[in-house]
Amino acid sequence: MSQAKAILVTGGAGYIGSHVVQQLGREGWRVVTLDNLSRGFADAVTYGPLVVGDIADQQLVRRVLREHDVGTIMHFAAFTIVPESVAEPLKYYDNNVLGTRALIDAALAEGVDEFVFSSSAAVYGLPPGGIAAEDSPTVPINPYGTSKLMSEWMLRDVAAASRLRPVMLRYFNVGGSDPSGRIGQSTPQATLLTKVAAEHVVGLRSHVSIFGTDYDTPDGTGVRDYIHVEDLASAHLSALRYLRGGGRPIVLNVGYGRGASVREVLDTVERVAGQRLVIREEPRRAGDPSMLVAKADRIRGVLDWVPQHDQLEQLVSDALRWERVLASRRTA
Ligand code: UFG
Repeated sequence: MSQAKAILVTGGAGYIGSHVVQQLGREGWRVVTLDNLSRGFADAVTYGPLVVGDIADQQLVRRVLREHDVGTIMHFAAFTIVPESVAEPLKYYDNNVLGTRALIDAALAEGVDEFVFSSSAAVYGLPPGGIAAEDSPTVPINPYGTSKLMSEWMLRDVAAASRLRPVMLRYFNVGGSDPSGRIGQSTPQATLLTKVAAEHVVGLRSHVSIFGTDYDTPDGTGVRDYIHVEDLASAHLSALRYLRGGGRPIVLNVGYGRGASVREVLDTVERVAGQRLVIREEPRRAGDPSMLVAKADRIRGVLDWVPQHDQLEQLVSDALRWERVLASRRTA
C-alpha cells in the first residue's frame, strides 16, 4: 500500500490521538480525524480535516473511508476513566466495545485492512510480580480494562477470518505533552498522577494525595511504567510503517520496561517545578496494583520504535508546561 492512502484517526481530538495526528501531519502523511467531541477538542486537531461524528455511525464512517481513500484506521475514540467505568459499565461497553465493533464492520465493508488499536495495560489486571508481558494472563479488574480486552478479542477473531491486520498497542501510564506546547491533556477532573500533580503546581488543587504508602515496593508507594505521550505517539507511526510493510496482526506492550514510584514522580515534580508540594498520605485506592511495569522487549524487536523522551524529568516538565498554557488561557 502506498503512502498516498490516508490514515483515519478516530478520537484524534483527544489527548493521545491529537499527538498522533500532529506527528503524522509533520511527517507528511495524509490524515483525517473522526471525533464526536464528547471528550475531545476541535482545536487540538493540528493537521488534516476534522469530521465531527461517531464511530458507531457506520454510514458516516464508510463514507469517510471512501472519500478520503483511507488505508489505515488508528482507533483511539473511547472512554478512558477507570472509576467512571466502574460506576457506569454499560456506558463503557456501548462506546468502547459496540463502537469498536461498528468501526471494524465498516473497515471490512470498505476493504480497509490496516488497523492500529489503542489498548491498555488495564487488560492485565494485577499481574503476578507486577511485570506484564504480552502473553501474561489478561484478567482485567474494571469495566474499562474489560472493554479494551473485548475489543482486542473482536479484532483477533476478525483477523483470523478476514484480511484485517490489527496492531494492538497496550499502553502503560501515559503522561506529558507535545514539547512545543501546542497540545496536551485537557481532560477535566483528571485522575492521573502526573496530571493531578501538574494541576497542583499551577494552583488548581490544594494538594496531591499519595494513595497507599504500605505497598510491597521499595518506598511503599505504587510503581508504574510512565511513558511520554510523544513516545507513545511515535509507536503508532512505527506500527503504521510495520503495517504498510505487510506486518501481521500482533499485540505489543508500549512502555519503557522501567518503573517509577509515586514518591519518585512527586520528587521529580518538586525538582522540575522548583517548589515543594503539599502531599497527603492516604489509604490505598481500591483496585490499584502495587506495581505495573511493561515487559517491553517485543515492540523493540518488531517495530522500528526508538523512544526519544524516556526521562521522567522530561515527561514532568512537558506536563507542567502544558498545565501553565491551560492556566494562562483561563486567566486570559
Ligand atoms: N496515584 C496517587 N495519587 C493520585 C493519583 C494516582 O498516589 O492522585 C497513584 C496510584 O495509586 C498509582 C499511581 O499513582 O499507584 C498511578 O495512578 P494513575 O491514576 O496515574 O494511573 P493508573 O495506574 O491507575 O491507571 C492508568 C490509567 C488506566 C490505564 C493504566 C494502565 O488510568 O487507564 O494506567 O497502566 F489502564
